[in-house]
Amino acid sequence: MWSIRKFWAIAHFFAICLAQNSSPKPLVIPPSQYWDGNDGPWSTFDLRVGKPEQFMRVAVSTASPHSIVPLSQFACEPQSFPAPPSDCAVSRGNLFDLNESSTWTGVGVYGINNNGVGLGAHLGYEQRAEWGLDELGVGLRGPKLENQSIAGIATPEPFYLGIFGLNNQPVNFSSLGNQSTPAYITTLKDQNKIPSISWSYTAGAKYRLKQVNGQLIFGGYDASRFTENSVSFTMADDVTRDLVVSLQSISYSGSMSATLLSDSIDIYIDSTDPNLWLPSKVVDEFEKAFDLTLDETSGLYLVNETHRNSLINSNAQVSFRLSDVRDGGDTVTIVLPYAAFDLTAKHPLVDNTSHYFPLKRANSLAQYTLGRTFLQEAYLSADYERKVFNVSACKWEQGAEENIITITSKDSPDSQLSPSDPDSGGLSSGAIAGIVIGSIVGAALLAALIAFIVLRKRRKWIGKGFAVAKQTKDPLAEPDESVLKGPVFNSDSFRRASSTAAGSSSAPFSAADISAARTTESGVSSADNSRSASGVSPRTGLAAAAVASQNAGKTAELDGQDTLIKPDTELDGNEIPRPLPVVSENPSGVYELPASPNAIQPGAERNRQGILGHGVQEGEHSPPSPVTSTMESSARGFGRQRQSMANSEMVSPDTPTHRHEDRPF
Ligand SMILES: *[C@@H]1O[C@H](CO)[C@@H](O)[C@H](O)[C@H]1NC(C)=O
Ligand SMILES: *[C@@H]1O[C@H](CO)[C@@H](O)[C@H](O)[C@H]1NC(C)=O
Ligand SMILES: *[C@@H]1O[C@H](CO)[C@@H](O)[C@H](O)[C@H]1NC(C)=O
Ligand SMILES: *[C@@H]1O[C@H](CO)[C@@H](O)[C@H](O)[C@H]1NC(C)=O
Ligand SMILES: *[C@@H]1O[C@H](CO)[C@@H](O)[C@H](O)[C@H]1NC(C)=O
Ligand SMILES: *[C@@H]1O[C@H](CO)[C@@H](O)[C@H](O)[C@H]1NC(C)=O
Ligand SMILES: *[C@@H]1O[C@H](CO)[C@@H](O)[C@H](O)[C@H]1NC(C)=O
Repeated sequence: MWSIRKFWAIAHFFAICLAQNSSPKPLVIPPSQYWDGNDGPWSTFDLRVGKPEQFMRVAVSTASPHSIVPLSQFACEPQSFPAPPSDCAVSRGNLFDLNESSTWTGVGVYGINNNGVGLGAHLGYEQRAEWGLDELGVGLRGPKLENQSIAGIATPEPFYLGIFGLNNQPVNFSSLGNQSTPAYITTLKDQNKIPSISWSYTAGAKYRLKQVNGQLIFGGYDASRFTENSVSFTMADDVTRDLVVSLQSISYSGSMSATLLSDSIDIYIDSTDPNLWLPSKVVDEFEKAFDLTLDETSGLYLVNETHRNSLINSNAQVSFRLSDVRDGGDTVTIVLPYAAFDLTAKHPLVDNTSHYFPLKRANSLAQYTLGRTFLQEAYLSADYERKVFNVSACKWEQGAEENIITITSKDSPDSQLSPSDPDSGGLSSGAIAGIVIGSIVGAALLAALIAFIVLRKRRKWIGKGFAVAKQTKDPLAEPDESVLKGPVFNSDSFRRASSTAAGSSSAPFSAADISAARTTESGVSSADNSRSASGVSPRTGLAAAAVASQNAGKTAELDGQDTLIKPDTELDGNEIPRPLPVVSENPSGVYELPASPNAIQPGAERNRQGILGHGVQEGEHSPPSPVTSTMESSARGFGRQRQSMANSEMVSPDTPTHRHEDRPF
């Protein structure tokens, strides 16, 4: 009665069922519920860095493959941040003390971007950072992964808040034996914590309903947050600039109507920067339509109170028509009301807090960018496995119920069995039909056999047993740990965790941690392994880098040639700007962060002025060896900074000293 073939078919059927049941669900990362940033307000997400966990609030970068955190040693010190605000640490989303993390592995000081390669390089960002690998978790509870690449920053520009990176490119550190660190999303997939290498993100909109927070989902999307459309976008080949769409037109309606752009351009969607970077001609049209004037000092389109009120009252809105192709094709239109452009600039972008319009004059094709402002009204889902993405108009519905849809992996049995998937390579449709029919017939026969045997013995048992089996199989009946909702700020455990994280004394390292650190410290002569971060003398090169990074965010002066921004020539008189240290360009566009082999003389004390702050003694700090702990050397190098840190305010994330009225609850 049972042929081998039918048996195989049934086995296959159950294998598929099992695989589906064990395949992970989309991971929804709840927003922090805070609105942060000096160019926002932006809905931020929680980040847990190091061991013990330190809690931060960061913006999301759809372009970055790594995360960035402001360092407590520098980020609110006058040396790197002149005249920091009194709530500096909180306003920067809290600071990370790498000395407090027992799992931090220092990599060294490198540029996040150099030679037009790296995060924000096309927009002229210059930023040096203290790199390391450490444990990283996103959301207050979500998964925590080891050895994630983290860039510690000091200066308040171009990154004021830290960021969490969504891109799937590995970060390569050539100083670590050409070690490649997989991106957060890749590690999540490798550990089978998400169904596919894909994410969805929308920035949230404070001006909508009762303030709508951002949303971040790995491996799925929330169909309740947007209006579906028929456009499918394909990723561009350049991995550092992949989410490119054709912007076919921009039109304005308000006190009058106008077309601001009519010739289609290719433009990059990137949440790293808040602004819309558009061709000069289009910026002129925006200036006319909104009566905007560029403030030369800040490089921003500042909008005064009277003007702002009249713009709000005019009900002006701007429509962006996007497609995957230059002309015709399916299109999706994203409409931004004036409120989406009504952002607030704070120190150090401007001296006095002011409203601004997030618009920048792009200097080259590579600068065309739809920044975070755009993602207030657009819902973006990216699928790196199929190299496609969706852009949809957000839907604003108070109390709409979440409807999370899984984006399956290209290799999952699910997608291979789906005949609608043109990519499924595994089985022919004949084989699929055979399996399906075989499975159905086999399952029916099996069920009949079981029913026959069991019915004869105990009639009642069936109904009961079947009900139980059904209940345990229903995934919705079980608490879904992958979907973590709602703020837990008031829970005791979170309070405790965050007060520890806020960095007082009560964060003991385990004995093992300490002895490990000792061993590496003495076992490896750190002086011998020390390398300067670049071929240029660290003092001049890095000082210049710091000056450049301070200026990069502020200046709008462009060199008229390429994507490079010429730093302001106005300096504080102490430093001589030099060209940035040359870091070998990476042809394939992967972020490579090389170090030069120049060894530091044993015991040589060098001035780190300008790397991450001014006048900090480097000592033997930051040898780029994977086995050397930075804990000891950090303590030596940053001793003086540390003392002043102790006096400065360090507020735990649940007790912000500012903007209580911004809390939605
Ligand atoms: C993280 O890095 C450390 C040191 O390089 C290594 O010992 C450890 O196995 C790594 N952990 C993972 C999960 O890769
Ligand atoms: C890394 O790779 C480059 C070229 O592929 C090579 O020149 C360099 O020596 C390597 N570095 C290490 C530390 O292995
Ligand atoms: C970075 O590392 C990945 C994985 O090891 C490798 O495939 C890629 O070629 C590396 N990129 C560069 C520029 O070395
Ligand atoms: C406000 O801005 C508008 C438009 O730029 C300008 O005409 C007006 O003079 C400004 N008002 C004040 C008080 O600065
Ligand atoms: C900032 O405000 C102060 C006090 O209102 C004023 O004196 C100063 O001129 C303003 N600065 C700028 C750049 O507008
Ligand atoms: C894009 O939308 C289509 C149709 O709604 C859906 O099938 C697909 O999974 C979406 N892809 C991503 C990456 O969101
Ligand atoms: C920094 O690390 C060193 C070595 O682990 C430790 O002795 C010191 O107390 C730390 N400093 C602070 C402020 O925690």
